[in-house]
Amino acid sequence: MPTITRPDGSVVTRAAEAERLVRSLGLGVAKAAPAASLALGRVIAGRRLTDEDSRQILAANRHLLPASHVGADVFALFPGTPGLGTLRFHRCHTHADDEVRFILAGEGIFGFVLPGGDQIEIMVEAGDLLRVPAGTEHWFRLGPRRTVVAVRLFGANPDWRADYTGTEILFPTE
Ligand SMILES: [Fe+2]
Repeated sequence: MPTITRPDGSVVTRAAEAERLVRSLGLGVAKAAPAASLALGRVIAGRRLTDEDSRQILAANRHLLPASHVGADVFALFPGTPGLGTLRFHRCHTHADDEVRFILAGEGIFGFVLPGGDQIEIMVEAGDLLRVPAGTEHWFRLGPRRTVVAVRLFGANPDWRADYTGTEILFPTE
């Protein structure tokens, strides 16, 4: 189970409590070692992702990805990536499709508004496969290393439109 944090900085250490929180959101959480590939090594070392790297990384990891989605691509963010300070997903939003991510390197932090209004953040790292159901209020931000390489899985309508909800994020901002 990935690390779950509350807005006061406390970590959910009881496995049963972590499972209850994940279940209450309907999240899919799984773990699989990402396939090692020359392309992934090149992307991490060079802090740059090309279309060819993306194709090779997807091919190497295809067998680890759920077959229920129609398409996939790779995204990569590094310190210095233009626009990093103004990530448009660091605001509460929902999507009409499931948001599915398989983390290949680095880490990312997904925040969620629980039924009832409490909030949690979940740190996902290499090997974490997370499915956020359509309609779930969430946000995304980078972790301490400011680096993430991940596969995005597409449903039938991959427009990535974010419907912003206006809910205030209770976690301290960076
Ligand atoms: Fe999102």
